[in-house]
Amino acid sequence: MSDYKFIAGDKKWWRQAVVYQIYPRSFADLNGDGIGDLAGMIDRVTYLKSLSIDAVWLSPFYPSELADGGYDVADYRNVDPRIGTLEEFDKLIEELHKVEIRVFVDIVPNHSSDQHEWFQAALKAGRGSAERERYIFHDGIGENGDIRPSELVSHFGPTGWTRVTEPDGTPGQWYLHLFAPEQPDFNWDNQEVRDDFIKTLRFWSDRGVDGFRIDVAHALTKDFSDGLPARNTMDIDPTKPDGSDPLFDRDEVHEIYREWRKVFNEYDPPRVAVAEASAPAHRLGAYASEETLGQAFNFDLLHADWNTKRFKHLISNSMKRAEKSGSSNTWVLSNHDVVRHPTRYGLPDKTDLVKWYISEGKSAPLDAKQGIDRARASTMLILALPGSTYLYQGEEIGLFEVADTPREAMQDPQWFRNPGKARSRDGCRIPLPWTTTGSSFGFGPGGSHLPMPADFGKYSVEANEADTNSVLNLYRTAIAMRRGLQCHEEINFIFNRNRSVLHFARPNGWQSFTNFGKSPVKLPKGKVLLSSQPLVGSQVPGETTVWLQA
Ligand code: NOJ
Ligand code: CA
Repeated sequence: MSDYKFIAGDKKWWRQAVVYQIYPRSFADLNGDGIGDLAGMIDRVTYLKSLSIDAVWLSPFYPSELADGGYDVADYRNVDPRIGTLEEFDKLIEELHKVEIRVFVDIVPNHSSDQHEWFQAALKAGRGSAERERYIFHDGIGENGDIRPSELVSHFGPTGWTRVTEPDGTPGQWYLHLFAPEQPDFNWDNQEVRDDFIKTLRFWSDRGVDGFRIDVAHALTKDFSDGLPARNTMDIDPTKPDGSDPLFDRDEVHEIYREWRKVFNEYDPPRVAVAEASAPAHRLGAYASEETLGQAFNFDLLHADWNTKRFKHLISNSMKRAEKSGSSNTWVLSNHDVVRHPTRYGLPDKTDLVKWYISEGKSAPLDAKQGIDRARASTMLILALPGSTYLYQGEEIGLFEVADTPREAMQDPQWFRNPGKARSRDGCRIPLPWTTTGSSFGFGPGGSHLPMPADFGKYSVEANEADTNSVLNLYRTAIAMRRGLQCHEEINFIFNRNRSVLHFARPNGWQSFTNFGKSPVKLPKGKVLLSSQPLVGSQVPGETTVWLQA
């Protein structure tokens, strides 16, 4: 029925891709120093291929002091020596490309590390220098300038300003950081900053990188002409959902992305990008247009309760948004910043996840079976939708969030800098278990940079391989099957009088049927292709998705 062909060399490959996020330090450690590395990824290319994914996205692997898990980049065109070398990076790209897996890397343009040579130069050069112009320095208030320039919080803690010591040893200016103090914000009015990022995009594109994930894409351009912002939240000003917030989602940010698009289009196939942008829904399309980044993450499902109406509403809205911008949808259930979705789905609705984490998982009971059943069903549901699915390492083996990591082992600044107010993202960044037993469960021959729970072996790749009904085997089958079923980017909802059912069809007759309720419901007509739980006669069990061919 459909003439759509999913071809590996297709320039539109990114529109309906399955992208697997690797958090490099926690994926696989080949040399046994407890830190995941590029050699570990090269070693696991066969595993990645076995998932039938289209691409991997590597979270930052650049030199970094790790004040924010690598999102504090000290050198944008190099590899952290603890993770590997540029030669190993080239080798990884080569090996992944051989098996037709494309590669996204993370670009972190809002801020650098305070160890970046430009920031160090800015400290040395002093007030009024060209070096300071690349960042956002201001004098403090009061006679001695010792009051911070404005009352602005940061994402990680109570202030977005930190004071420096001037070259002569006296207390000096203050610099802006929307995240940790070790992450000074760049000044995007500065031409050198703009030129340097173009250089970085070319550097990785020339090495064969296929795409870029753009960190905090909504925050680069700032306008302080009405005074320095003073606010106690890092949310966009709800009274200014129109591009006029001084800090976020300003219209002029798209000038930058239009320049980047020209660079992407110099390559064949054109390089692609996905924006991590926190902007009002009606403004997300601007990041995802053909003239700008092309695609933007849709994070709606990260916060959605397991509920038919809610899912249907979010899906419809996302479809409309994508159509308007000319982009395709994106679907995400987990990433390195949020509570893993089997945990979210296993806790009672409306559980306060911060409280739950702070209580080491004791504030609310976790129903692990419910969590995994819903996770399996939701993965099949999003894989059936048009658009790209972004998977986070470990979800394919059914990992849960770890809430009882010893507090002294924590690494996340969100935890240290917001005492009692935030969870630690370390809970979703625990290294992957590959084997049922052994030193760090096969993560590497040594230990692991974050402690792994004693029962982690039961989630390992090895344990999953041994069970035909495992989460891993479901992911493999579903992703491989989806390739053959791929078609035009449309869906039609099919009415079902049962309110627990979400049923839709793609133009080629491929149907997805999800029973959100606990009780079984009648299987619709059609040939069953795959089910997230075994069917019981002609009944679809609770919390199950079935794919059918009409
Ligand atoms: C978003 C990233 O996903 C997160 O991990 C990081 O802390 C912030 N951006 C700052 O770079
Ligand atoms: Ca290592």
